[in-house]
Amino acid sequence: MKLAVVGGGSTYTPELVDGIARLREELPVSEIALIDPDAARLDLVAGVSRRMLAHAGHPARVLTTSSVAEGVAGARAVLFQLRVGGQAAREVDETLPLRCGCVGQETTGAGGLAKALRTVPLVLELAESVREHAPQAWIVDFTNPVGIVTRALLDAGHRAIGLCNVAIGFQRRFAAWLGVEPARISLGHAGLNHLTWERSVHLDGEDVLPELLRAHGQEIADSLGLRLGLLERLGVVPSYYLRYFYAHDAVVREQRAKPSRAAEVAAMERRLLDLYADPAVVTKPELLSERGGAFYSEAAVALVAALLGDGPGPASAQAVPQAVPQAVPQVVNVRNAGTLPFLPDEAVIEVPAAITRDGAVPLPVPPVEPLYAGLIANVSAYETLALEAALHGGADRVRDALLAHPLIGQDETAEELTGLLLAANRGFLPWA
Ligand code: G6P
Ligand code: MN
Repeated sequence: MKLAVVGGGSTYTPELVDGIARLREELPVSEIALIDPDAARLDLVAGVSRRMLAHAGHPARVLTTSSVAEGVAGARAVLFQLRVGGQAAREVDETLPLRCGCVGQETTGAGGLAKALRTVPLVLELAESVREHAPQAWIVDFTNPVGIVTRALLDAGHRAIGLCNVAIGFQRRFAAWLGVEPARISLGHAGLNHLTWERSVHLDGEDVLPELLRAHGQEIADSLGLRLGLLERLGVVPSYYLRYFYAHDAVVREQRAKPSRAAEVAAMERRLLDLYADPAVVTKPELLSERGGAFYSEAAVALVAALLGDGPGPASAQAVPQAVPQAVPQVVNVRNAGTLPFLPDEAVIEVPAAITRDGAVPLPVPPVEPLYAGLIANVSAYETLALEAALHGGADRVRDALLAHPLIGQDETAEELTGLLLAANRGFLPWA
């Protein structure tokens, strides 16, 4: 089976290759096409990927190309993991909003909007090439902002699913604390990409979240940078992206006092590329675990395996309900389709879904409390406006999206940020 990776020159690629090498029973890959415009980087990443596969005794071949048409031809799944403008553009996303007293983050707030403006048009262009050269392939999007990008892909009629590693990270962590196999844990994960809460943690059908909060509450609170009292009151585990909302002003103060994450990651990437160039490096470097993408490979391999695997599609599952083992739900970005009744059907949400060869079907979500539903609805509306701005351009649409965002919301701030953000991103936006 052939897999293609758009943005294959990413320093994350060895993470994915490590998963492919380890999980060969789940997903028998024979060919990996790494597609990237940066030939030098592609060479280094492909080199270490080949050595890793050889070291693991995995037979997959690694191809490199700058041509999307060539790379995706014959692929069953195409992973999108690109970053328009690299860490330099991210640095702007993370620092520019601070000038207006707003959080600087690559997916949340004004930074996320800038990233959407740069990314959506390119992703849609790439997806057209997939449609032309690999019409049966699934697109798995890890490119941020995942919620908005997935919505853009689905609206354009692509076979796409959005993926993030936040849920699998919680699942693995909770499983380790409980001393059980991760597959026995299913999360009551609900919301939008990078705006989610774990509202239950089921182990073999029983909700063990209260127990986890009792035993590990302080540790969880510390890892999220939130107060234990807040977690105890809510009785849920917010994703760490909720800190940008629940502790917005504290985050702004911190961010003003230290280098950006982009600067940290840029330094890490230089060291990673040196390691990838070293012929002695034949396994995933430890340094890669300091990136935010932990378990990304596991989530991606499991998702692609379920989409392409021997598992039944819904029709055959209906015909032989008893004989078919229930697939473990996977948390993905899919159309809402009534799952969260307070959102439009077309919105993209991040929830557990049943994955079959026909795609992802969101599982029912218990009614969401107003405390979360209000914020989800607000950010979902922002995402709709952000996508409008990314598709059609124009300062007015950018300002509308900023005005709709709960972390911005004020006219003067939206006005000022619009000017700053468009000026800084002019090189990426033909209309600006
Ligand atoms: C997590 C998020 C990703 C994000 C990454 C950033 O994995 O789910 O969406 O891209 O963190 O990690 P980085 O190491 O680049 O800060
Ligand atoms: Mn993510």
